[in-house]
Amino acid sequence: MLSFFKRFFKQKPLITKQDILKVSLPPHIGIIMDGNGRWARRKGLPRAAGHRAGAETLRTVVETCIDLGIPYLTVYAFSTENWKRPEEEVNALMELLVEYIDKELFKLKENGVKIKTIGNISELPAHVISRINNAELETAQNERLVLQIALNYGGRKEILDAVKNISQKVAAGNLQPDNINLQTFEEHLYTAGVPDPDLFIRTAGELRLSNFLLWQSAYTELWFTEVFWPDFQPEHLYQAIYDFQKRQRRFGGLK
Ligand code: IPE
Ligand code: IPE
Ligand code: MG
Repeated sequence: MLSFFKRFFKQKPLITKQDILKVSLPPHIGIIMDGNGRWARRKGLPRAAGHRAGAETLRTVVETCIDLGIPYLTVYAFSTENWKRPEEEVNALMELLVEYIDKELFKLKENGVKIKTIGNISELPAHVISRINNAELETAQNERLVLQIALNYGGRKEILDAVKNISQKVAAGNLQPDNINLQTFEEHLYTAGVPDPDLFIRTAGELRLSNFLLWQSAYTELWFTEVFWPDFQPEHLYQAIYDFQKRQRRFGGLK
């Protein structure tokens, strides 16, 4: 009986767009898009096919966020640790990114999406860098949705880079150590000017952050699903938001 209900609810999620629009939405959602490889393996396909299907999911989720009026979305596309993967897979991921930008840029621009990458972009292949620079430039004036793409991103590296930049200012005599506060620090992160994420979604059952927005996630609400990223649907996003809306955030204070 229970398994019947589970299957029924899995196929027909109960939460609709109308349900979540009654309460205020999380202004900044972060997604650790995981499970492309397992999705592909389950289907007997190469891992790259999973990444391709994952890019389709991203397209849909961006559209859903625009539709809902979410102002900030950060997606984890490639971590500083993902270089450990076979070269073939790394290349496939880079090419998919280029393809995504080439295919989607016009529509993203029209839809008011501002593309912003976070991470060490300079270490990426030259043709990827130029696509990114162009996409950022062409969408710089947009304000409807800020889409932060974490690419060659690592939270520890981001913090280290901030420390280095701040140290250089101190060494040059342009900043006094006593004047370094939380705000100064945040201004030196890749995410400067973007509010902290309210909700993190991680797909594919792994219960960890894997170096994603470590500083910024101090009070982020975490939501996990077993669903592989290529199978993630707008209804799963509605469910995550619905669950988020039921939580009580205290930020260390009292009710
Ligand atoms: C997420 O899917 C995409 C990236 C990390 C780039 P994975 O490739 O990690 O998929 P699994 O975890 O192997 O299933
Ligand atoms: C995290 O997924 C990175 C991205 C989604 C880009 P991983 O698949 O690399 O994480 P681990 O290795 O399972 O922690
Ligand atoms: Mg993974």
